[in-house]
Amino acid sequence: RSRPLDIDIGGEQAGQKIKIGIYFATWWALNVVFNIYNKKVLNAFPYPWLTSTLSLACGSLMMLVSWAARVADAPTVDSDFLKSLLPVAIAHTIGHVAATVSMSKVAVSFTHIIKSGEPAFSVLVSRLVLGETFPLPVYLSLLPIIGGCALAAVTELNFNMIGFMGAMVSNLAFVFRNIFSKKGMKGKSVSGMNYYACLSIMSLLILTPFAIAVEGPQMWAAGWQNAVAQIGPNFVWWVAAQSIFYHLYNQVSYMSLDQISPLTFSVGNTMKRISVIVSSIIIFRTPIQPIKALGAAIAIFGTFLYSQAKL
Ligand code: 3PG
Repeated sequence: RSRPLDIDIGGEQAGQKIKIGIYFATWWALNVVFNIYNKKVLNAFPYPWLTSTLSLACGSLMMLVSWAARVADAPTVDSDFLKSLLPVAIAHTIGHVAATVSMSKVAVSFTHIIKSGEPAFSVLVSRLVLGETFPLPVYLSLLPIIGGCALAAVTELNFNMIGFMGAMVSNLAFVFRNIFSKKGMKGKSVSGMNYYACLSIMSLLILTPFAIAVEGPQMWAAGWQNAVAQIGPNFVWWVAAQSIFYHLYNQVSYMSLDQISPLTFSVGNTMKRISVIVSSIIIFRTPIQPIKALGAAIAIFGTFLYSQAKL
């Protein structure tokens, strides 16, 4: 009599796996498109503070319109929710702008190779800030992650300190963002999609004054004219594409975070970087020496060891 039940449970688990598989594949594909358009925009218009702001503004607008048109149900938020969202939004803003500044200075592949070191930051923050301890194999798995990233960094032909530091700061900020968001989403009625929408709106409010202070409308106007003169009217579509795809990939990633542990999330994120690194090297014809590719491969293999050690 127990067989039909077993089969049912098995079917449910398989369904859940397929659902997460579809989320992951969509997340990675959207992310590749975002990275390509983001870099095309930054090459012609090197104002990462504005492009970061526009990505958040576009996502916020898309969600406000979806709520107003009742395509998505608007969340009910209270002051406790907003208070718990604030540290997540600060970390998201810093991580986002730092990654975009990095990509404005170096190749997309380089930023993502450094960003594949995120699990190492996750362990260090959990150990040093939260006081968590891990078994020895977890610490040992950090050696190839850190070593591989370091090898890729020192062999980078177009090394740039701001590009490197931007990716490092982004790693640190996103570790905090992921820890705080998983906590904030636990036991809350707000779905992953709406959680990310609220996060975008709050981050937009935080980032806008800084973007104006660091770059400002005068620089933007001159840069915009220059980019349109160089690229033509298509430039506007590139900006729209980078902004829309930024929101979509993050929204899908938060929809998966709703279903999986932060560990599975961070491993999925590192695997996402493989598709971004490979596709951006092909599209932008980034020169890459074998030694650097080896460094990236070691770092990514380290992430695999890390996920096994942490199970
Ligand atoms: C950003 O602009 O926020 C970064 O490109 C994000 O990087 P990640 O989501 O791949 O960590």
